[in-house]
Amino acid sequence: MAHIPTTERDSFGSKIGVIAAAAGSAIGLGNIWRFPYVLGNNGGGAFLIIYLVFVVGIGVPVMISEFIIGRRSQRNPYGAFVKLAPGKPWYLVGIMGILAAFTILSFYSTIAGWTLEYLIEAFSTGFQNMTKSSLNDNLNTFINNGYRPVLWQLIFMFLTGYVVYAGVKNGIEKYTKILMPILLVIIIVLDVNSILLPGAGKGLTFLFKPDFSKINGEVVLEALGQAFFSLSIGMGTLITYGSYIQKKENLGNTAVSVSMADTLIAILAGIAIFPAVFSFGINPEAGPSLVFVTLPLIFEQMTGGYFFAILFFSLLAIAALTSTISVLEVVVAYLSEERNMSRKKATVISAAAISVLGIGCTLSQGPAPQLHILGKSLFDAMDFLSANILLPLGGLFIVLFVGWQLKRLDVLDELSSGGQHKVAFFRVYLIIVRFLAPIAILLVFLNNLGVI
Ligand code: PHE
Repeated sequence: MAHIPTTERDSFGSKIGVIAAAAGSAIGLGNIWRFPYVLGNNGGGAFLIIYLVFVVGIGVPVMISEFIIGRRSQRNPYGAFVKLAPGKPWYLVGIMGILAAFTILSFYSTIAGWTLEYLIEAFSTGFQNMTKSSLNDNLNTFINNGYRPVLWQLIFMFLTGYVVYAGVKNGIEKYTKILMPILLVIIIVLDVNSILLPGAGKGLTFLFKPDFSKINGEVVLEALGQAFFSLSIGMGTLITYGSYIQKKENLGNTAVSVSMADTLIAILAGIAIFPAVFSFGINPEAGPSLVFVTLPLIFEQMTGGYFFAILFFSLLAIAALTSTISVLEVVVAYLSEERNMSRKKATVISAAAISVLGIGCTLSQGPAPQLHILGKSLFDAMDFLSANILLPLGGLFIVLFVGWQLKRLDVLDELSSGGQHKVAFFRVYLIIVRFLAPIAILLVFLNNLGVI
């Protein structure tokens, strides 16, 4: 591998900064909004087990691979593949990642906007005197309003751009280091409260007790997609963040810590939600409206609900922001490194372009149902396309790239920071990225296409 110039590239200043930023990316609406309802729709505990297997067996190796590609190349996802495999078509994986940044952020910012609306509502009314049907109406009226959800979405995109614009160390690292500890404290407070509710045990049983009769090919694909989505892998977010990690940091340990933190928060979110859901006798299979209808209903009835509602929606907004910045950073890094734009210009242009697609997603949920692709609303189509297709496909190519394209010694060199760290798991890692992970991802795909 040729000498890599590292001059003038922004980077994370500390180990804690790396973990805060990467965990901040991973921990998001995926953990607190998506994980609980996907688990609820897919049978509870059995889903959790498959999910955990995918996180450990595929997620961690893909994450390590992304860090390797990023730090080795010191580039954005497109530039990274061009630099590490010049003249080969691997750069298409980078392009796919940039595309995925658009699809993810477009629907993600819709929900991120909802969290702001609900945060304000928690402050102002605390959902007082609302019933299940009035909460449902409330959500529908808000979604169908058109201009309010779009306004909140744009405000959220503005906040995201504000942090990204400030840079890697002075923006992303600075804010995630403050926000992530707050997030942890909030979720623990919510968990304690939830577990102490009468009848909480049923919720814990639903979350942890596997019922394997619920499992089929679709559930397995959902679990794989959820693992990729939740860990922020498969589209180059962590290639980009990896390129800002200093040479001395241990990439393997970092990936394990980040994945553990992400999984822990998903489970803690499940513990905050399901015991409360069961305690109030509500159906756990509510779908995407779980946290916007079911939870407010619970807060309305719960002692101290006003306070917990504010905490919960702050938690969602914080979790969303530390993730949206990581997605926007992919596009900004690409534009500023490959298209010679200033960071400022790159931030404004990418945030604006993504917002256009984002507004489409938001409107497709309510006032503009004609925004449909393949029988799904634009919103659902972007969600499905990113989580269940683009990310696993990206992950497949990323492990193949590290397993078969990069030189074994270069991979070892990067993982060990030039021999500074012992890499005890190297052979296992190689076997996974060369064979096990690609085969597993392909099987899940083929099964869902009905090929096997
Ligand atoms: N991991 C984030 C979440 O769980 C979403 C995300 C996906 C962020 C892909 C970046 C890349 O909310």
